[in-house]
Amino acid sequence: RNYRSRTECRGDIQRLNASFLAIYESLIPPEEEKEKQKQLMALLDKHVTKEWPEARLFLYGSCANSFGFRKSDIDVCLAMGDADIDKAEILLKLADILKSDNLENVQALTRARVPIVKLMDPTTGISCDICVNNLLAVINTKLLRDYSKIDIRLRQLAFIIKHWAKSRGVNETYQGTLSSYAYVLMCIHFLQMRTPSILPCLQEMETTYKINVDNVECCYFDKVEKLEGFGSRNGESIAQLVWAFFNYWAHSHDYANDVISIRTGSLVSKRAKDWTRRIGNDRHLICIEDPFEVTHDLGRVVDKRSIRVLREEFERAAEIMQYDPNPCVKLFEPY
Ligand code: CTP
Ligand code: MG
Repeated sequence: RNYRSRTECRGDIQRLNASFLAIYESLIPPEEEKEKQKQLMALLDKHVTKEWPEARLFLYGSCANSFGFRKSDIDVCLAMGDADIDKAEILLKLADILKSDNLENVQALTRARVPIVKLMDPTTGISCDICVNNLLAVINTKLLRDYSKIDIRLRQLAFIIKHWAKSRGVNETYQGTLSSYAYVLMCIHFLQMRTPSILPCLQEMETTYKINVDNVECCYFDKVEKLEGFGSRNGESIAQLVWAFFNYWAHSHDYANDVISIRTGSLVSKRAKDWTRRIGNDRHLICIEDPFEVTHDLGRVVDKRSIRVLREEFERAAEIMQYDPNPCVKLFEPY
């Protein structure tokens, strides 16, 4: 070990904090981008309501959950009301309608895991994916956005972790690593578990928002403006949190027994969820419970090979945070 432990040097931590905050600032989308998204949504809305007057469009994913970087594509959900519709048929029709307008690369991908229409709008330069009746995604988008309003450190931490995951190639679900959605859940859980806690557990509080989607009861406390200052008893800085986050996933998390759960704001046992063995393709090697679809493990994409890749990356990051004199260079080094 060539370097003194970082915790020994305060000046060091402050410099590192400033570097992380600068990275965070550089990734935040500028206001104009929101305007362009609205413009494209208005155009799509016009076409959709003409064909299906009852239908509605919702933004979901990173463009709406507050964890999106600049120049992101947008995710849109077409809500049809009727649950018994043929999604492929709707998507093919939608693609036909949109092709007639000034939109480029309009394609219906009806056989994808989540069937969508893809397109690019040359006026705004924004690409977009439209799915049908994926309302749980719209609701979990709202939950993430609500959490982000409670303490700014969630957004800062999640930006740094997502940026790290993208740089290191561990944000690729088709290669067995984790989705951005999973990383944000990990950040929320991590901040719920700090002492004193930086985030509350909204689903364990009084219900102020309630909706039943696809037979899943979604309810939680959404009056988050009332929770201003919740985390202020905890003074940890972003650099300390990034260090502790990687340390947790590198050295403290019990992969054999624990499930992280933002629904309960605590750890749940794999045994209680019957996630101890491989069932079909779900191996449960790293367990991240979906807040509403509680039988969904966001870690189900991870296999025997990719769990090693992931854990080695967590260990590498923890090591860099601990000993590297200038961690920001190495941490985000392209893999
Ligand atoms: N989603 C979900 N279940 C999953 C994966 C995703 O419900 N297993 C939904 C979530 O609403 C999530 C959205 O799909 O917000 C988009 O997921 P993802 O692409 O992982 O996250 P983004 O926030 O869009 O991240 P990125 O900036 O990488 O596009
Ligand atoms: Mg996305």
